[in-house]
Amino acid sequence: MNARSLLRISDLTDGEIFGLCEKALKNPPSASAVDPRRSAVALMFLEPSTRTRVSFERASQLVGRPTILFDDASTSLVKGESLEDTLLTLRALNISTFVIRTPHTGSLEKLRVLPGISVINAGDGVGEHPTQALLDATTLLDALGGDRSRFSGLRMGILGDLRRSRVARSWAELAPRLGVHLSFISPSGWRPQDWGTQIPWTDRKADALGSLDVIMALRVQKERMGPGEDKDTEAFIRSFRIHPLDLTDRQKLMHPGPVNWDVELSSEFQRDSRSLILTQVQKGLSLRACVLDLLGEAS
Ligand code: NCD
Repeated sequence: MNARSLLRISDLTDGEIFGLCEKALKNPPSASAVDPRRSAVALMFLEPSTRTRVSFERASQLVGRPTILFDDASTSLVKGESLEDTLLTLRALNISTFVIRTPHTGSLEKLRVLPGISVINAGDGVGEHPTQALLDATTLLDALGGDRSRFSGLRMGILGDLRRSRVARSWAELAPRLGVHLSFISPSGWRPQDWGTQIPWTDRKADALGSLDVIMALRVQKERMGPGEDKDTEAFIRSFRIHPLDLTDRQKLMHPGPVNWDVELSSEFQRDSRSLILTQVQKGLSLRACVLDLLGEAS
């Protein structure tokens, strides 16, 4: 049997989704030592990353497994070796879990069939980023006092560069599974085109924010914009940047990071008790350890 991979939210059952978030809060793995005899976790980041890469590295330590770090310049991929051949070669060196970030949307699907190899999508182009959405859900569950029934009817809005966001795309899959009422807020040019069409969308920030319990802002992803598109950023800042006065005391603010301060969020949020941004990073560690635990070590 093939090993299990986590490439999209749809790879998990509802029970697994709730189970992962609850275990991350109550009972995450915590191995006392890393065992070099165990199969290793490869961290293949073919695009820049700080928090996701370090989070998976620390999470692997929590499940007691060694890690091997790769970037695109240090692998034979640059010599023309296919990703499949690279993974099978590394499998022979007792590396069985591959956490991969790639600029190529959908390019990880073909790896599912490789024997004894488990792949975790750490962001594929404008595809998905399932563990980010799951760690966000874990953060929300914590803010809800650990009571999963309180997801039901929670009103969450995601604001910003939706079209280019793999986090928003994973949330479009995750929200209905949790019972969260998700809505999207963005300039019309940044509205998702071929996905998320069932999610309510508006370009009226002022009207939208008042009705929400949780607001998640997204980074304006300049590196994914085409020529001339960065002029849209100035218009976005004028009409969509979130300021502390835009939120009430009971509303919570999230962001997957990295934040472009004073672009999508006013820098005054750096010291604001409504911000859950660092809690998201913290919960990500436990959640990713639970994901590694769930997928197991392929044999
Ligand atoms: C996101 C990503 O890389 O997809 N960040 C993250 O993983 N924490 C979002 C982003 O880059 O803006």
